[in-house]
Amino acid sequence: MSSISKIEKNSSYLKIIWNDGEESKFNFMWLRDNCPTAHDKDSRHRMFNILSVSTKINPKKYSVNKDGKLEIEWSEGNHISLYDSKWLRDNCYTIKNKKEYVSPYELWDNSLQNNLDSVKINCKEIMDSDEGLIKWLKLLHHKGIAIIENAPVEDKSGFKILNRISHTRETFFKTPFEVINIPKPNNSAYSAHALRNHMDLPWFENPPGYQFLHCLINSATGGDSSAVDAFAVADYLKKNEKDVFDILVSVPLKFRDKDYTQEAVRSVYGTAISLTKDGDYNDIRYSIATLDALDCHPDIMEKVYKAHHRFGNLLHDKKFQINFRLKPGDIFCFNNRRLLHGRTEFDPASGKRHLQGYYIDRDEIIGRLNYLKN
Ligand SMILES: [Fe+2]
Repeated sequence: MSSISKIEKNSSYLKIIWNDGEESKFNFMWLRDNCPTAHDKDSRHRMFNILSVSTKINPKKYSVNKDGKLEIEWSEGNHISLYDSKWLRDNCYTIKNKKEYVSPYELWDNSLQNNLDSVKINCKEIMDSDEGLIKWLKLLHHKGIAIIENAPVEDKSGFKILNRISHTRETFFKTPFEVINIPKPNNSAYSAHALRNHMDLPWFENPPGYQFLHCLINSATGGDSSAVDAFAVADYLKKNEKDVFDILVSVPLKFRDKDYTQEAVRSVYGTAISLTKDGDYNDIRYSIATLDALDCHPDIMEKVYKAHHRFGNLLHDKKFQINFRLKPGDIFCFNNRRLLHGRTEFDPASGKRHLQGYYIDRDEIIGRLNYLKN
C-alpha cells in the first residue's frame, strides 16, 4: 500500500511524494472541498460550501500524523482536515491524467457473424444469477449487442427480465411498443416494409440508450434482422477518411419526428458522430427516415451531403453488417446510440410477425454494471 513519504507546499498546491516514488499535486481548494467532513454521513451530499472560504485558502500547517493520514490546518475557517492516504492516492488527479485512456468499446464488423454465439446468453442464466446478469450487462456495454435466448413468449413478459437491470424508459409509443404491421402506420416499423439500418428516435435531445426487441412470433416469410456497429464505421472513417469524419463530428444535422398522431413538434440538431471528453465515441445520430430538410450554410451543404452519403453507404456495407433471424423467445438487445438495426421486408400474408420493444436509458446499464462489479 502507498504511504506518504514527503510533502512540499507550493503556491497553489501540496506536492505529495509517495513511498513508491510517484508524485501527486493536490490543489488547496480541491483539498478543502474534499475534506472528509464536508459530506453528510447519510445523504453523502456535500454540506460544505466552497463559497464560504476565499480562493486564497491554504494550509497554515500540514503534516503526516501517526496513522499515516495527511493533516491540514487551514488558513481560514478555523478548520482541520484529515485525509486517508489511500483515498488521496485513489483520487489523485495527477496520476489519473497521466494514464492512457482505454476504451470500454470492443468494436466489431461482419466477422462477428461467424461468432454470433459469443453475444448470446440464455434467459435462465440472467434470471437465476448475478453472474448471468453481469455477463449480459458487459455484452451490452462493451460490444453494444446481446441476444437473449429462450425467454418466455407471453405478452409483456420482457418486463420481468429487463427489471433485472432497472426500470424502462417511457415514450409516447408506450412500453412495450408493438412492432407489428398495422393499417395506416404512424411509423415505418409498424408496416411490412424493409427497414434500412437506423437508430430509434434520433429526434429526441436524448435518444433512448438501449433498445430491446423481444420476438414473440416470427412465422412470416422475410423479416430477417440486420445490425451494424456504427462506432466501428466511425473508427474506419477516422483512420481512413479523416475529412469525412471531421464533417460528421462537427456539423449538426437536423432530425424531426414526423409521427402524424402526435400533438407535438419534436426536433433536434445533433452531429452524426459525437465524442466523449477522452475523444472516444459517444453517440451516433443516424436515420434516413427522420432526417429533416437540412438547413446548413449553402457553402457547406455539398460536403455535408457527401459525408452523410459516404457514412450511410458504409453503415450498409456488408463488410460491417451482420444478418440474423430472430426466433420466438429471442430478445435482441443493443445500444441504440451505437448500433443501427434494420430488417428485410416480410410478407404478412405468409404468417405473423410480432415483436415487443422496450427502451432503457444508458445510465441504468452502466450504473448497474458498475454496482454489480464491486
Ligand atoms: Fe427501430
